[in-house]
Amino acid sequence: STARFLVGGNWKCNGDRESIVRLVADLNSGDVPSDVEVVCAPPFVYLDQVSKALMPPYQVAAQNCWVGKGGAFTGEVSAEMLSDCGVGWVILGHSERRALCGEDSQFVGKKVAYALEQGLRVIACIGETLEQRESGEMFNVLEEQMGAIAENVSDWGPVVIAYEPVWAIGTGVVATPDQAQEVHAYLRKWVTEKVGAGVADSLRILYGGSVNDANCVELAGQEDIDGFLVGGASLKGAAFVKICNAQ
Ligand code: G3H
Repeated sequence: STARFLVGGNWKCNGDRESIVRLVADLNSGDVPSDVEVVCAPPFVYLDQVSKALMPPYQVAAQNCWVGKGGAFTGEVSAEMLSDCGVGWVILGHSERRALCGEDSQFVGKKVAYALEQGLRVIACIGETLEQRESGEMFNVLEEQMGAIAENVSDWGPVVIAYEPVWAIGTGVVATPDQAQEVHAYLRKWVTEKVGAGVADSLRILYGGSVNDANCVELAGQEDIDGFLVGGASLKGAAFVKICNAQ
């Protein structure tokens, strides 16, 4: 695609003030190519600390937000609040939230719509389980997840898709470049047919799942891989900077 390479670092529920100071220092001292976009997603309570300390070109993202306007939703953080605090990005529909917090595709679709309406840029995540892949359900699952997102998007400019096979997340079992490329090509074709060729060509489709500094270059060489969403390796500054240089 013609898209600018993008690397997201999803810190998940990790870190404390001290370790984050060190991680930010390591990131700031690393060299990231100017044509690569990099977005780091710390836990909510550290967003302010990180957004103040991280230097350009790094940007920050939240890992989630509420499905609608704020109000009586104990424990939630709204899209308005993220905008208000200068957080430009949000990750939505991560498989951990789908599996552990019961977020289904319709709910994720609504979150995407609302976050976009509030001016946030969105990294929307999809991916099949091993069982779904092995039973031949993979493309149906991906289509259902993509469909619920696409239904809620009119302007695709602020949208990034992250393909994260659940079996590859946090397991050390990275998808092979062929496996990842097969799905990315399928997704781009789906977008070409359902949305349009222009959008498909400029849409960033990230791969996520056990990406590290050793496997990133080969994955980045695949035609339809436009970047990564990195979990574990995003907590190690030097490794993450290498991943940002994968292309
Ligand atoms: O959002 C990131 C993914 O869940 C990947 O996590 O790199 O630790 O496998 P991982």
